[in-house]
Amino acid sequence: ELQGSVTIVVLGASGDLAKKKTYPALFRLYRNGFLPKNTHIVGYARTKLSHADYLDRVTHYIKLNKDNAQAEQDLLDEFKQLLYYQAGSYDQDASYQALDAFIKSQLESTMAPGQRNRVFYMALPPSVFVPVARGLRRNAYATEGANRIVVEKPFGKDLESSNQLSKDLGQLFTEPEIYRIDHYLGKEMVKNVMTVRFSNVIFSHVWNRMYIDNVQVTFKEPFGTEGRGGYFDEFGIIRDVMQNHLLQVLSLIAMERPISTDAEAIRDEKVKVLKCIPPIDIQDSLLGQYVGDANGEGDKKLGYLEDPTLKNKSSLTPTFAALVLWIQNERWEGVPFILKAGKALDSAKVEVRIQFRNVAGNLYKSAARNELVIRVQPDEALYMKFNNKMPGLSYQTIQTDLDLTYENRYTDLAIPDAYESLLLDVLRNDHSNFVRDDELGAAWRIFTPLLHKIDQHDAAIKMTSYKYGSRGPDELDDFVRKYGYDRSNAH
Ligand code: BG6
Repeated sequence: ELQGSVTIVVLGASGDLAKKKTYPALFRLYRNGFLPKNTHIVGYARTKLSHADYLDRVTHYIKLNKDNAQAEQDLLDEFKQLLYYQAGSYDQDASYQALDAFIKSQLESTMAPGQRNRVFYMALPPSVFVPVARGLRRNAYATEGANRIVVEKPFGKDLESSNQLSKDLGQLFTEPEIYRIDHYLGKEMVKNVMTVRFSNVIFSHVWNRMYIDNVQVTFKEPFGTEGRGGYFDEFGIIRDVMQNHLLQVLSLIAMERPISTDAEAIRDEKVKVLKCIPPIDIQDSLLGQYVGDANGEGDKKLGYLEDPTLKNKSSLTPTFAALVLWIQNERWEGVPFILKAGKALDSAKVEVRIQFRNVAGNLYKSAARNELVIRVQPDEALYMKFNNKMPGLSYQTIQTDLDLTYENRYTDLAIPDAYESLLLDVLRNDHSNFVRDDELGAAWRIFTPLLHKIDQHDAAIKMTSYKYGSRGPDELDDFVRKYGYDRSNAH
């Protein structure tokens, strides 16, 4: 844990990520008593802001518990006392020197030497990651305590650019000082995967190719890329959520048992399993882009290409992808891991489906496959599709669920937001839920050849389309069936 006091500098404090995620998470940590006693939070951005404007901005998205309105408001007022703001440029040494001088004279003078820790949270666009990291390292690096730097994707656009970024950052901060956020690793059900796998004996012997037929990790969002056309078009759905979020979930499902719950032991196993995955074959992909639903009921939704923030009106960037990954090791050979992700679909859902094989010599013709479902969001749940005798005089088999729906089971427990959990990990110096540099490289290696083919409009790449608000391209059902997924289960 961080001994003593800490100054958290939020760089890019006036941006969306900081307002929507970082400050609300910091407030919840404060409210729940998890910020070290002597914590100060300094917002840093280019915009000149009065203190009052800054407070307005960064507290705008903080939600207070209405049942306890006055007490919550008091806590928020206390929290505001911890907040400071410094305007400065991202590429001038003088600006970081001013930041350093401010922290030293105003915040650290009462803190014990040796315990004057600093956390730099970079809520910034990738174009300034390295210049800002350099400015901080040269001019605002703590010499009387620990330094931690928190960065967030995109970590490059392919293997080469990601390696370059790792190299540049690595020259400025050590790997133990760097925390690469993949916020999916802060989600409750993602954090639960290891617990479920490695603390329940019923899974240890069936978690392999002998018993598991296929695995699907699905990400669905019901909204398009409206307003984010600029960013999104450069990245596309594979870079946006698959190479990072979905692949992290896959690693946790597929990795071997780590020798301990130590961060490096866990990350070692993730890297190992990623290294067993060959680059994705074009044949194992289905790509799509959404089109508007101008004749639909109610809201007329614009297609991807019609978004005014999109510059390239003939863009071939995928907004949907289904990709199949194969893990070439003894445990998983021949088991398809199907990653599916899309914007502008029919619902909001992230889940993992682990479909087991058919029962051998099945006595009961109507028995369906077992399937373990981990619902990450919304409404966290873990359930197992399970065959049961129809209660009563019938001997018919019915499929039912062994159901652990969190809101029924853990009625008094609040589930923290991913950022709250991850920021606490940073303060506790726990890297388990952060991406290590070699892990990042191993992840990019799997996707880079396919991404380059998409970027170059290679003739072998076929782009399908799907309607805004639909289940995805019409080809999807056949695609997953081809890899053995039995949809008769999916109700
Ligand atoms: C981000 C992507 O990393 O994750 C977004 O850039 C996506 O496009 C978001 O919407 C999804 O996160 P969550 O927590 O809302 O599922």
